[in-house]
Amino acid sequence: MLFLRSPAKVNLFLQIRGRCSDGYHELASLFQAISLCDHLHFKESECDLLTCSDPTLPVDHTNLISKAVHLFRSKTGIKRHWTIHVQKNIPQQAGLGGGSSNAATTLWALNALHGKPATEDELVAWGAALGSDVPFFLSSGTAYCTGRGEVIRSLSPLQNATLWIVKPKEGLPTVQVYAKLKECHMSTGDPQKALTSFFNGSSTYFNDLEKPAFDLLPSLATLKQKLLNFGFSNVLMSGSGSSFFCVGEADPADVSDCLTFKVHYLQRQSNFWY
Ligand code: C5P
Repeated sequence: MLFLRSPAKVNLFLQIRGRCSDGYHELASLFQAISLCDHLHFKESECDLLTCSDPTLPVDHTNLISKAVHLFRSKTGIKRHWTIHVQKNIPQQAGLGGGSSNAATTLWALNALHGKPATEDELVAWGAALGSDVPFFLSSGTAYCTGRGEVIRSLSPLQNATLWIVKPKEGLPTVQVYAKLKECHMSTGDPQKALTSFFNGSSTYFNDLEKPAFDLLPSLATLKQKLLNFGFSNVLMSGSGSSFFCVGEADPADVSDCLTFKVHYLQRQSNFWY
């Protein structure tokens, strides 16, 4: 039996650098794990069973947890079965990586429960087949990610910060946000400089997917301005949205029709989970 946290992430900056021949986009992004977590409970059983606290989430073979279980079995040849329960706290279609985190947590859990037949590098490679954001969650919790997001470089911890996550009731499907992306949305600055800025105290927050997301859902631009008016020093959409993270000394307590979460950064030590 194993009980693990499955954290959300934010993208402290996200640059889209071009479109690949397979339709995916090449990006450069600083990912950070945060303390908003789902909880996953693993128990060996006669056959596979996935249950979830959120009845709107499919628990069939399309769920990334089920896909991770099948992938782990096919890669290792190990045939044991698992009952997995997910306590869902991370909102969906939020740009917070909840599904990807669940998949990474499942790969790590099954590996631990079977006596670690795979290395963490192998788990990263397997995770990339499940989704572009899955490998990040197998990093240290702070990582510079390139390629389509799956090429990860773990970094030393940033100075911890308190953020507010604000999620409007509307979600955004990642595919649709990328479909709205135009060349003019892509920033041209050096991502290495952006990365350095987070370690020398002059953090440069930006997200090239904000404008396409605002085109898709114009109320997001209004929400961002409203959050800035609360007095936050930075308000940025995470990933492909629709949630924002807010940096600075303010409180979005009365923002209407939104879920709000006060969070901090999370790190992971090698051989331990979050
Ligand atoms: O990899 P994942 O399944 O999470 O990606 C979901 C969708 O997001 C892809 O089908 C693609 O349309 C888009 N995407 C992209 N470029 C990336 C990551 C995702 O175009 N680097």
